[in-house]
Amino acid sequence: MKIIETKNLTKKFTPSLCSKCWRTLQGLFRAPSLKLWSVSDKNKTFLDKGAGFTAVDNISFQVEEGEIFGFLGPNGAGKTTTISMLCTLLKPSSGEAYVNGYNVVSEEAKVRQSIGIIFQDPSLDERLTAWENLKFHSLIYGIRKELIGARAQEVLNLIGLSEWRNEIVRKFSGGMKRRLEIARGLLHYPKVLFLDEPTLGLDPQTRRHIWDYIHELREKKKITIFLTTHYLDEAENCDRIAVIDFGQIIALDTPQGLRKLLPEDAIFLKTVNDEKAKIEIEEKYKVTVNFNNGGIFFSIKNGEEFIPELLKNLSLTVKSVNLKRPTLDDIFLKLTGREIREEKIKKDDWFRGILRSHSRR
Ligand SMILES: Nc1ncnc2c1ncn2[C@@H]1O[C@H](COP(=O)(O)OP(=O)(O)OP(=O)(O)O)[C@@H](O)[C@H]1O
Ligand SMILES: [Mg+2]
Repeated sequence: MKIIETKNLTKKFTPSLCSKCWRTLQGLFRAPSLKLWSVSDKNKTFLDKGAGFTAVDNISFQVEEGEIFGFLGPNGAGKTTTISMLCTLLKPSSGEAYVNGYNVVSEEAKVRQSIGIIFQDPSLDERLTAWENLKFHSLIYGIRKELIGARAQEVLNLIGLSEWRNEIVRKFSGGMKRRLEIARGLLHYPKVLFLDEPTLGLDPQTRRHIWDYIHELREKKKITIFLTTHYLDEAENCDRIAVIDFGQIIALDTPQGLRKLLPEDAIFLKTVNDEKAKIEIEEKYKVTVNFNNGGIFFSIKNGEEFIPELLKNLSLTVKSVNLKRPTLDDIFLKLTGREIREEKIKKDDWFRGILRSHSRR
């Protein structure tokens, strides 16, 4: 069964700056002497035409019941905007989306009752205890009073925070806060849990723990999980991944399927004479061999099976051999011509901030 379905979903943000603000902004960006920051091409178009900014551009996809579905993309790709539309927090500019069979525009209330959401930005009340946060949320969700205690205890057990129930949240570590937010999102037994960058800024060990909880949730609660991330290694945990860039889905497949986009493995080799090894390998296997870090490397299909053959046939003694499988990093690079890096988009953050605070829903 399809739990989430979108058809040509699009979100365009329209600016509502007053004309004076607008002229000042345009002037600032155009002044040659004021090169305060760089503006991406898309934002430039936006400035020139005042035409609005398409954050999510015609995306169509389906998520099956029980799937862990990942949205992978760099900063500003449109991940949060997509989640916000699916969770009814933003209205799509065009296209359609259904969650649990409900239309996100015409059946808002039903969608909200059937989903849990963990926002990208922290949203707990740090002055309350874990228990109070859960209780408050239960009341907002209209959970019957006599059920609240049992539900809160159940979700705390699930994410391993029961001994902390009466502690003030301010004392929690980043990972514990995130777990509590996940617990809170589960209180009303949602069928789909939306997690926007659940592990952003957490250390690798805590990130692994959060992932353990996510997998456990799927097993125990048979819940569908839709999450966003820009950690490529994490995306490997998903059943399927949609790679999103500039608001468009540029690939959608299982991690294994995506890896097939780069079918070749890289083999790194150190021998007693790398110059000779290069010539010999190029002649025998018709591949291009390059020098790298005091050794040589080349790309080949089925590297694992190739290595024993290479070692048997090469006339030179091999000092070390390493096999490198293509990672999602390499695949993202192949798909977009860029690496997932935060720096570039960070420069536009100031501009994004202004747009956010002056845009209509
Ligand atoms: N309310 C808004 N008004 C105007 N532009 C917005 C608004 N919200 C988001 N945007 C723009 O839409 C684009 C997509 O933003 P979004 O927050 O969806 O990206 P993201 O993929 O979640 O990025 P991040 O990894 O930084 O969270 C960005 O360029 C952003 O500046
Ligand atoms: Mg985001």
